[in-house]
Amino acid sequence: MGVADAIKKVDAKQITSTWAILESDKPGNGVELMLQLFKDDATAKGKFGRLGDPANKDEALKNSKFVGQSAMLMGGLQVLVENLGNPLVLEACARNLAVKHIARNMTAEDFGRICGSLDKILDAKNAGADAKAAWRNLVAVVQEAMRE
Ligand code: HEM
Repeated sequence: MGVADAIKKVDAKQITSTWAILESDKPGNGVELMLQLFKDDATAKGKFGRLGDPANKDEALKNSKFVGQSAMLMGGLQVLVENLGNPLVLEACARNLAVKHIARNMTAEDFGRICGSLDKILDAKNAGADAKAAWRNLVAVVQEAMRE
């Protein structure tokens, strides 16, 4: 499909309205997303060995390495969200994220595992099917960049 075409499929309105909910508590939601990813994907958990294995949200919020990585994750999402109106910059940011994850021996499929975890977090916020589809399409932009 290519990165530029993947960008055209992203529903910016759905992303911005749900991002407002996620960013209202960035540390809390970031940690929840990372914990969900650890639950859903043992291989992802393995890649983050240096962060330890917090048993729940309270423990995770006291683990500064875990909080730091969660903040990187939320920051990465934020950069994509902020550039939804600027396809060239969005493409450049997606390529940047792609390179960083390829450098960690990740494939596009590995990266895509965040989608199931994002769905669960969005469900917990009562976001609808359109919002979940929009986030999958945004993740797909990075995945396309990883495939090229
Ligand atoms: C939309 C989803 C994601 C975003 C926005 C994101 C963002 C980031 C960012 C900004 C970094 C720091 C990169 C650097 O400065 O070099 C990072 C590192 C990393 N990411 Fe992701 N990431 C995502 C999904 C994932 C997934 C699904 C996995 C694993 C399956 C993963 C594994 C890693 C690893 C292992 C690192 C290096 C951690 C370390 O420093 O020990 N990421 N990610």
